[in-house]
Amino acid sequence: MKNIVILISGGGSNMAALVRCAARDQWAKRYGAQVALVVSNKAEARGLDFARAQGIATEVMDHKAFPDRETFDAALGDLIARYDTPEWPALVVLAGFMRILTPAFVERFAGRLTNIHPSLLPAFAGLHTHQRAIDASCKFAGATVHLVTAELDHGPILEQAVVPVLPDDTEATLAARVLTQEHLIYPRAIARLLQRG
Ligand code: GRF
Repeated sequence: MKNIVILISGGGSNMAALVRCAARDQWAKRYGAQVALVVSNKAEARGLDFARAQGIATEVMDHKAFPDRETFDAALGDLIARYDTPEWPALVVLAGFMRILTPAFVERFAGRLTNIHPSLLPAFAGLHTHQRAIDASCKFAGATVHLVTAELDHGPILEQAVVPVLPDDTEATLAARVLTQEHLIYPRAIARLLQRG
């Protein structure tokens, strides 16, 4: 089995979209793949309830319980590595995981570590993407799925979706419009990676 490990910090709607798509499109049958584990660095992440209700294994790894970023990332990496199989190292999917990862972690999972970012990268890496797009009078915004490299919110682009920025948009209305597209492109990008093997 190809194991997918999803990392979240909050609502987990992208994780839920992936889980739903995996079931609907029969990823187990089609690709021999399953969402095997959902990890959150926050115990109160709402996404954990969804994952548990789906019968998916969950783990909470509180970064505040670790002395530094390196130690946390090493422990997180070891947890994920338990889901490697002899034929296939686990695919690591960041879905609203609000932690900056160390170069050592990125290196360890290079080529099988993905992220979704709510902007049309390379524009607006970092936080507050929607407000920054509105402030810059952008006419279009969107979301990007990319492979993770050591530089924050960079790396080869796997999928993008574009939405219009409307004249009366607020950060919240734009974020909601972008999020609906995130839920389409993240599962599509992961399915492509699984297909490629
Ligand atoms: C999404 O907009 C994602 O792109 C960003 O954080 C948000 C997470 O939403 N990195 P959710 O937890 O998947 O609902």
